Amino acid sequence: MEAQQSKHAANASTVGAHHRSIHDPANGHFRSLTVYAESPDCAKAARDMVGCYLQTWGLAHAVDAVQLVVSELVGNVVHHAVPDNHLAQPGAGRRIDVCLMTWPEVLVLGVSDEDSTPPDLPPGDFVSPELTGDFVEALVPDRGRGLLIAQRLAESVWWSSGVRGGKTVWSRFDLDQLRADYSA
Ligand SMILES: Nc1ncnc2c1ncn2[C@@H]1O[C@H](COP(=O)(O)OP(=O)(O)OP(=O)(O)O)[C@@H](O)[C@H]1O
Ligand SMILES: [Mg+2]
Repeated sequence: MEAQQSKHAANASTVGAHHRSIHDPANGHFRSLTVYAESPDCAKAARDMVGCYLQTWGLAHAVDAVQLVVSELVGNVVHHAVPDNHLAQPGAGRRIDVCLMTWPEVLVLGVSDEDSTPPDLPPGDFVSPELTGDFVEALVPDRGRGLLIAQRLAESVWWSSGVRGGKTVWSRFDLDQLRADYSA
């Protein structure tokens, strides 16, 4: 039994040696920023943070796409988010948390607000390309294109409820694809 356990431990450490460590900054990064919707430069602050960290991480090829998406998502909080009753504080600004993480070739951007109302994601991704050809936009209601732009730039856009209310709108980017597009 002891021999079996130590063999198992030896195998585990051999396997582990081939895995990337979550603590190795060369393989993964995480940064977050809190801004307030009432601040006139909140979208710019989010763009600057995203641009600065992506440059620092050697991901210049991701800057344009991620900055455009973060602008749209922060803009959406400014224009649409009404904090849940239990989160709203009289006189306080509406909180927006922006987080950016990479692991290692996937990049995820999250924008959280205090409104549990889901974003109205366009159905574009769910419409068969054979049916729509190049005209998928024609099937989208003509009342706002911000999330459609996000869907076009990111691999995937979705949302999740916050534990204590509110929500996060997420977008996932393929860094290899962005690198290829950048050098094309
Ligand atoms: N953070 C959010 N909180 C609440 N509702 C949201 C949020 N983000 C988006 N929505 C809802 O989803 C809809 C679609 O958002 P989208 O960004 O595509 O368009 P828009 O903001 O209305 O217009 P545009 O971005 O083109 O200026 C919004 O009209 C709004 O009803
Ligand atoms: Mg919008």
